[in-house]
Amino acid sequence: MKKVYIYHGFERFWHWTQASLIIFLALTGFEVHGSFSMLGFEAAARYHRVASWMLIALIVFAIFWHFVTGEWRQYLPTSKKLKDQVLYYAFGMFKGSHHPTRKTELSKLNPLQRLVYLGFKLVLVPVTIISGIFYMLHKTIDQNNIVVVEDVPLANIAFWHTLGAFLLIVFLIVHVYMTTTGHTPTSNIRAMMTGYEELEEDDELSGEKQKSTTKKQKEQR
Ligand code: HEM
Repeated sequence: MKKVYIYHGFERFWHWTQASLIIFLALTGFEVHGSFSMLGFEAAARYHRVASWMLIALIVFAIFWHFVTGEWRQYLPTSKKLKDQVLYYAFGMFKGSHHPTRKTELSKLNPLQRLVYLGFKLVLVPVTIISGIFYMLHKTIDQNNIVVVEDVPLANIAFWHTLGAFLLIVFLIVHVYMTTTGHTPTSNIRAMMTGYEELEEDDELSGEKQKSTTKKQKEQR
């Protein structure tokens, strides 16, 4: 096993801040929804709006970071070994089988993670944020006395926003469970905290190989 620096500083900051904001938004959002009472409706609605702007700002920085560093490539979907990965999570890992895919610095995500995280970033989060913005702007009046977001019924906006909120909570629960399926139950969580993860020596080598292949490909271009 060799220690490899796999998660960069911004990536860890973004991951934990996003997780905290989503949990806070879920708590305040469901208080607004009337599911329970803790801060009181007024305060919950106010904090929900403040946290939502913080999440939007964080995501803008994260999008910038993904493109500047080229890390967006980690999320390119692939069907190669996708079935093996599903079978591993469904049966293999309970029988002590080996992970069907190898984690390297240049390929941190297995085929199933790529697909799920891509859906999270391109569908689930945008649906929740866009419906949230529509919620905020619904029937508000702008500087020119024009009513903003008038044509979309509030019930539709509330439906999409609440659906997004439920799915985000489901994602969170499954995600936390899946983090325990690494080399040890806490190795993935510790890696996201420290940046370093213990990978098999071969993993590192295949990472190096990939690195030089990518370099060669770039040179050829
Ligand atoms: C940038 C993202 C978000 C924005 C702009 C936003 C905005 C809003 C707004 C404006 C409301 C209506 C309450 C009010 O007037 O303050 C609301 C309600 C709500 N939000 Fe969000 N929100 C966002 C993210 C989230 C997230 C991540 C969750 C949960 C994981 C969430 C869960 C809820 C729930 C459950 C409600 C109550 C819906 C209802 O009962 O109709 N929101 N949100």
